Amino acid sequence: MTEQTQRVFSGVQPTGNLHLGNYLGAIKRFVEMQDSYECIYCVVDMHAITVWQDPQELSRNTREVTAAYIAAGIKPDEHIIFNQSQVPQHAELAWIFNCVARMGWLNRMTQFKDKAGKNAENSSVGLYAYPNLMAADILAYRATHVPVGEDQKQHLELARDIAQKFNNDFSKSIKQAGFKDGFFPQPEPLILGEATRVMSLKDGSKKMSKSDPSDLSRLNLLDDAETIARKVKKARTDPDALPSEPKGLDGRPEAANLVSIYAALSDQTTADVLNEYGGQQFSVFKPALVDLAVEKLGPMGAEMKRLMDDKTYIDGVLAKGGEQARAIAEPIMDNVKRIVGFIRAK
Ligand code: TYM
Repeated sequence: MTEQTQRVFSGVQPTGNLHLGNYLGAIKRFVEMQDSYECIYCVVDMHAITVWQDPQELSRNTREVTAAYIAAGIKPDEHIIFNQSQVPQHAELAWIFNCVARMGWLNRMTQFKDKAGKNAENSSVGLYAYPNLMAADILAYRATHVPVGEDQKQHLELARDIAQKFNNDFSKSIKQAGFKDGFFPQPEPLILGEATRVMSLKDGSKKMSKSDPSDLSRLNLLDDAETIARKVKKARTDPDALPSEPKGLDGRPEAANLVSIYAALSDQTTADVLNEYGGQQFSVFKPALVDLAVEKLGPMGAEMKRLMDDKTYIDGVLAKGGEQARAIAEPIMDNVKRIVGFIRAK
């Protein structure tokens, strides 16, 4: 096992309101990786509970993310789709990483500061230690590539630091266990496409987010055509026409956001889109964006709804995926325990 298999791992939290940012920044990329890599896609229910979740909603949202994966085009017969809590190695490795990562490293995590806000004292310990669990998710499979949106970059850097510190701290026993080049790989973030940071439709300086109290700030994957049209029409813009070149979007965050959404949905570059729409007003561009969004999201949303009604199928996919994931993570975790010096029965 000294050879490192090229392996993709990524995850989405089942916290409801799956939106266009999740699709363009992550799920659409997951779909594209399937032809070149062995892929493991996780619904990270253990991450979700770092903030209290209604248990029924958590189950529903777990099925929603699973349905989105499949409706977007991830093939559960060829790759692994599962929910995190079905594979105990995530929590086991996270504990070891709690003992590898340094407080100073976690204190720098901007997502914790954003989520905890002024109320850090009252946040769960899990929310603080969350990035260690995320590192464990990836490294429990010794995954090498991690497609994510821009906002996860810092967490990926932390995962790399943890992998490296583990390899250094235990270098002697790693060699004794027969691994010549360290045990964990340095997982590489793949932040790809034209929409790696989709912004709120109401405020071009804020990320599109599941937790924004205004539903008008985002396009949800389950929105119907009428809702998509209403939200795009109401999206904030500026009074100017679209520029003909990308640098004309500097200082125009709302315009830049809508153009990059159009580009990502139509598999074009921003420059291509401006080639076509440069000089046009939003009164022309917005209806074109509505048509495109309805064309791309409509069928996917309908398929998600159909799948979510078939709980037996969804839960079956997660159970089979969980079994396959455990088969990969178990021997890796056995080696971790040996490397750390834990005595095992077998
Ligand atoms: P989560 O659930 O917040 O988001 C899921 C994915 O969607 C991307 N994303 C966005 N991309 C572009 N624009 C946006 N506005 C936008 N909002 C969200 C995220 O970058 C992410 O790729 N910590 C992760 C989940 C996770 C994970 C992992 C990811 C847990 N373990 C291991 C990769 C590997 C999270 O909270 O994502």
